[in-house]
Amino acid sequence: MQKGSGETTDMQKQVLEKFREIFGEEGGIRSYFAPGRVNLIGEHTDYNGGHVFPCALTIGTYGAARKRDDRKLRFYSLNFPKDGVTESSLDDLKPMEKSGWTDYPKGVLWALGEKGYEIPSGMDFLVGGNIPNGSGLSSSASLEVLTGLVIRDLFGLEKLTMTEIALAGQYGENHYNGMNCGIMDQFASAMGKKDCAIFLDTSTLKYEYAPVNLPDARIVIINSKVKHSLVTSAYNERRSECERALKELQQAVDIRSLGELSEEEFEAHKDAVKEEVCRKRAKHAVYENQRTIRAVKALRDNNIEEFGRLMNASHVSLRDDYQVSCEEIDILTELAWSIPGVLGSRITGGGFGGCTVSIVKNDAVEEFIRIIGREYKKKVGHEAEFYVVDLGDGAHRLS
Ligand code: GLA
Repeated sequence: MQKGSGETTDMQKQVLEKFREIFGEEGGIRSYFAPGRVNLIGEHTDYNGGHVFPCALTIGTYGAARKRDDRKLRFYSLNFPKDGVTESSLDDLKPMEKSGWTDYPKGVLWALGEKGYEIPSGMDFLVGGNIPNGSGLSSSASLEVLTGLVIRDLFGLEKLTMTEIALAGQYGENHYNGMNCGIMDQFASAMGKKDCAIFLDTSTLKYEYAPVNLPDARIVIINSKVKHSLVTSAYNERRSECERALKELQQAVDIRSLGELSEEEFEAHKDAVKEEVCRKRAKHAVYENQRTIRAVKALRDNNIEEFGRLMNASHVSLRDDYQVSCEEIDILTELAWSIPGVLGSRITGGGFGGCTVSIVKNDAVEEFIRIIGREYKKKVGHEAEFYVVDLGDGAHRLS
C-alpha cells in the first residue's frame, strides 16, 4: 500500500466533507491524522519490560472535530456508517461498556479524566481510517492516539505530552476495554518518525529513532485476512503466564521484569518456574528482548542480513514458545523464507492471525507477491493482501 499524498488528501477530504454534512457547516473544525504501526521485531516484550522496534505507517485514522458548548459527545465513523451518529456524554463514560468502535475514543476521554485532566466540554468527532480492519496494524491504537491529540489541541491541554497521550490510550485499552496491552502500539502511533523505527525501552519509556535506510529492499506486509476468535482472552492469558513466571523467578533472582534477564541468567534460573507453559512464555520474552537489542545494532551496522535472520528467529519463538501464530501465518512465513531475496519474515503484532512483515530485496518484490499470492490462495482458499509500505510520522494536526 504505497499511499501517496493523493490518497491522504482524499481521505482527509472525505472526513471533512462528511463532518460538514452531519455536524454542520459552521467553523471551528480541525482535522488530524494518527498512523497505524508495524513492529519490525520485539514482540510481546512490551508488557515484560523489554524492548520493541515498531514504526509508524503512512496509513492510519483521519479525524475532524469541533468543540461543543455542552457536555455532549457525538461520534461518526466512515468505516461504520450503519452505526450512524452515536451520542454520549462526558458524564456517561462507563468502562467495559462494549458498545462498539466508540469504546476507543470514549476510553481515552475516560482515561484522561482518571489521570486528572479536566475536559471542559463535549465535542463532535468524525473519523475515517484506511488501515484494513482487524489486520493487526493497530487501527484501534491509532484511533486512541487521534482522540488524545484532538482533545489536547481542541481544549489547549498543553501539558499533555504525546507520551502521555500514548499512555492514556493504553490505560483506556486496559481498563475501559479490558485488553491488557502494552504501550508499543500507542507509542508508535504518537511518536513515529518518517523513515525511522523507534527503539523503545518499555521499562523506562526511553527511546531512540533508528533510520531504516534500505537502499536495496522494501518492507512488505502481508495480511492473512484471518482473525481468530478470542484474541483478547488469549492475549491476556499470555500476559498473566509471563507474570506468573516473573513471580517465581523473583524467588531466585532480584529482577523487576523479564526484560532485565540475559539469556544466560534465564537459563541459570529457569527451573524456578514450575509450569512448563509459563517457562516457555518467559523464555520467549527474555530471548526476544535480547534479539531486539541485537537486531537494532545489526541495522545500525548496515547488516540487514543479520537483522533478517533475527526476524526469522523471532517468528520461530513466537510460533513454538509463545504460541501466538496460526496455520495461515505459518504458511505465509514459510513461503516467504523459501523465496530468494527475502531477508527476513515474521508474524507482527499481537498474533492469532493478522499480518506478517518481511524485508524483501527490491528486485524480488514482484516475485514475492506473485508466488506467495498464488500459493496462499491455493493452500488457504482465500487471497492474501500485500502492502509495500513507507514509514511515516506520528500523529499530527492537518488543518
Ligand atoms: C498487541 C499489543 C501490544 C504488543 C503486541 C505484541 O499489538 O497491543 O502492546 O503487546 O500485541 O508485541
